[in-house]
Amino acid sequence: MNNFVFYNPTKILFGKNQIQLLGKEMKSNNVKKVLILAGGGSIKQNGVYDVTIKTLSKEGIESVEVWGVRPNPTLDHANEAIKIARDNNVDAILAIGGGSVIDESKSIAAGFYLDNLWDVFEKKALIEKALPIYTILTLSGTCSEMDPFAVLSNEAEQKKWGMGSPLLFPKVSVIDPSIQMSLPWHQTVNGGIDAISHTMEFYFLGTNEEITISMDEAIINTIIKSIDALQVDSKDYSARSNLAWCATLALNGNSGVALKGGDWASHRIEHGISALHPEVAHGAGLAVVFPNWIKYCASENPAQFKRFAEKIWNCDNIEDAVEKMKSKFRSWSAPTTLRDLNIEKSEIEAIADNALNIGNLGAVKPLTREDVIKILEFSY
Ligand code: NZQ
Ligand code: ZN
Repeated sequence: MNNFVFYNPTKILFGKNQIQLLGKEMKSNNVKKVLILAGGGSIKQNGVYDVTIKTLSKEGIESVEVWGVRPNPTLDHANEAIKIARDNNVDAILAIGGGSVIDESKSIAAGFYLDNLWDVFEKKALIEKALPIYTILTLSGTCSEMDPFAVLSNEAEQKKWGMGSPLLFPKVSVIDPSIQMSLPWHQTVNGGIDAISHTMEFYFLGTNEEITISMDEAIINTIIKSIDALQVDSKDYSARSNLAWCATLALNGNSGVALKGGDWASHRIEHGISALHPEVAHGAGLAVVFPNWIKYCASENPAQFKRFAEKIWNCDNIEDAVEKMKSKFRSWSAPTTLRDLNIEKSEIEAIADNALNIGNLGAVKPLTREDVIKILEFSY
């Protein structure tokens, strides 16, 4: 195995009724006033908001609320929230939502101490301090609840970029799978495909890291099994909880142990798509791009791609495996072509340029502009 560093300080409270414990956790860390960050209101409908307010007030923790975080969250909204956080002198942030809300909370936590938040995304500034972050996860997929990364869209510049810092690991995250029963079907699927993709970003670099590779196969197979079960019964708690924990394992460090930081080309191409089309959900974009990236790159590390075909799709070659993967995605009603996302063929070059504007792409296969265009043409 390659040398590796493993570091993950996030404490997880997993399971039913765990939100009630959060107030105590925050009080024990001396939190007095928290900025609650949320999206479009699903937490008011499914009862999560009320339970949260109860646990905070029980411990005498004050709060101020910012709503309206959008899927594919924006720099402008984060900047508005930073101002509210400063004006109210909060000493922590509590994100209640999916990856978008949690990512924006990390941006606010860092931006609270910065003159210009976007400088961090441009790598022109370093995060030296951040407010402590607490999260209540309502949608499993991104692993933002247990990783140090955040992705934000700068709409004026059409950039959807990521950043990370060890200071942005949440302090405590609650993962109660039962609150995900209110998810619309396509959001469950988007989250599952995102988590499969995170695992695959590492997996295809595999050679002899047997424990990581076997674990990655278990993660992917369990996600597929869980989504299939949820398609039959969306309230199946066993499937919800397996899916939730797999999604966390997929990017909290475990799935990438000794795998050299991963590839991430498919993610960057997807970010290029949703930078230009903010209405495209991250998981939906990945469902379109990743199978075609596999098809295009499979000759680079053939033994590993063959193993993937066998262990996940029960096929003896990668071409058949990719077809099975696409038809599995279709059976979940996920998109599998750019046309399904209402993207025109004429936009392919602009998406490729957008994906490449941060720098080089790909580790399994370093991708040129022409390579990215070909992958997008396969995806059309
Ligand atoms: O706005 P609310 O009311 O919260 O509704 C959301 C939103 O409309 C809804 N939802 C969430 N939980 C629900 C629910 N509806 C009913 N019941 C519930 N329990 O779902 C919609 C989508 O939410 P969103 O947070 O946008 O989805 P997701 O978790 O997939 O996050 C996607 C964002 O995370 C970034 C993506 O690029 C994208 O911007 N990523 C973050 C990563 C990270 N931090 O490590 C890595 C990923 O690769 C990814 O890039
Ligand atoms: Zn992702």
